[in-house]
Amino acid sequence: MKEQLAKAEAAVAALRETRNDRWYPTFHIAAPAGWINDPNGLSFFKDRYQVYFQHHPYSTQWGPMHWGHVSSTDMVTWKREPIAFAPSIEADRDGVFSGSAVPSPDGETLYVYYTGHRWANGVNEDDGNDQVQCMATSTDGINFEKHGVVVEGPAELPHFRDPKVWQIGDTWYMVFGACSADNRGQVWLYTSTDMEDWEFDSILFEDPDPDAFMLECPDFFPLGDKWVLTYCPMGPKPAGYANRNGHNAGYVVGTWAPGEAFVQTKDYVLEDWGHNFYAPQTFEAPDGRRIQYGWMGSFEEPVASQASDGWSGQLTLPRELTLEEDGNLVARPIDEVKKLRNATEEFGNLSLGYGESLVLAEDSTAVEIELDLDLAATTADRVGLQVHKTSDGHHSYVYYDALAGRVGIDSRLSYAGAKGYRAAAVSGDKLRLRIFVDRGSIEVFANDGATALTSFSFPADGPRSIELCSENGIAAISGLRVHTLRTIWED
Ligand code: FRU
Repeated sequence: MKEQLAKAEAAVAALRETRNDRWYPTFHIAAPAGWINDPNGLSFFKDRYQVYFQHHPYSTQWGPMHWGHVSSTDMVTWKREPIAFAPSIEADRDGVFSGSAVPSPDGETLYVYYTGHRWANGVNEDDGNDQVQCMATSTDGINFEKHGVVVEGPAELPHFRDPKVWQIGDTWYMVFGACSADNRGQVWLYTSTDMEDWEFDSILFEDPDPDAFMLECPDFFPLGDKWVLTYCPMGPKPAGYANRNGHNAGYVVGTWAPGEAFVQTKDYVLEDWGHNFYAPQTFEAPDGRRIQYGWMGSFEEPVASQASDGWSGQLTLPRELTLEEDGNLVARPIDEVKKLRNATEEFGNLSLGYGESLVLAEDSTAVEIELDLDLAATTADRVGLQVHKTSDGHHSYVYYDALAGRVGIDSRLSYAGAKGYRAAAVSGDKLRLRIFVDRGSIEVFANDGATALTSFSFPADGPRSIELCSENGIAAISGLRVHTLRTIWED
């Protein structure tokens, strides 16, 4: 694989020369240049957090998949590592697709499981895919040895990919997504006692939605006394506020134990209600926290940075997952993210009257805004933040809509990229918002992560202001702070 990796590094270095940084993330993980999608191989290995991701180093479009790599000791400051995988064996001829990583019990070897992808006709998906689960190992997380196929699927299945592996006692478990012979989206479960020989266990889950023909990137993990299955169904139709994106990610909750069936206790819900959240993956940190990264990107809309900026796609902030009593999955930025704050401006308590607005920043590239609203005392129809606002009037609008009882991101007046709005229901008398604005994106966490929305936002040239406004009534603000954030990159 050495030769393929050297070629890929040279390609990414050449593209890097063309990179325009106007929208390039400051505090989100992205490749130096080229395309990225799903987070892969999330793990803590040899005292470092390891984050890999689907990567096409040759252009800003999806193409034969490689794995990019970054690592960190604290999940705050990140080091760029060499590209970890390139297609180099027959089984992964057309792509080293998504997968996961687990350290061996002695902590000395990192085992990676990924999907080896081939187009059945050698060119495109028209005649289906040949997909198998492969294994590779590394003693440093940087240099990998491929060991080839560990799980072959029934040849007639068109989709069979994205292995996620975990260990319980002396047994390893692997789930991945499949499209059954009658076009149903399923999650398959395999087991192993030595990490190398894998046996079919069961079909763990079949999506009850008959439109869902494939469940991409399943992840299955315990939270409290429940098990959460996250996955990305391909095919479901838009339903009200849900499933508005070409690709959507969500979860179900249930009970499970080794050898038993998964018994679902909560119906499928979206995990993130923004425009750009897909293919999330979790891992367990050494302190037991369940941490998740998602991909902020899009397969169907042209991403504004693709045309001439030399890069496309980034990962979300790392989110700690917990489960509420009613089974709602809470995703809040991990505490370490606060270490990115390097200056804070306090606005305190204030009330904005009819049609009033307040400029919170004249020019901001990387900020976190904490906004607490007293909803009982708020009479405004909407309270909003115009972010990435430029002198020509373009901006993205992050708002609370009292009539709909929803928090939303509206991109209709954004300078570039997909238009439209997304909104998620919130409840209670108070609304706490944490809004992260990077150079080309917005992540909103409402009520300590009970609701999340993630969307691109590509501003026009010139200073980018942030303006708070109150529409048609009073906005009762009980807390307001703006933090500027530093970069995550080591150098
Ligand atoms: C999801 C996905 C995975 C696949 C990978 C290929 O975004 O389609 O199912 O392994 O991306 O890049």
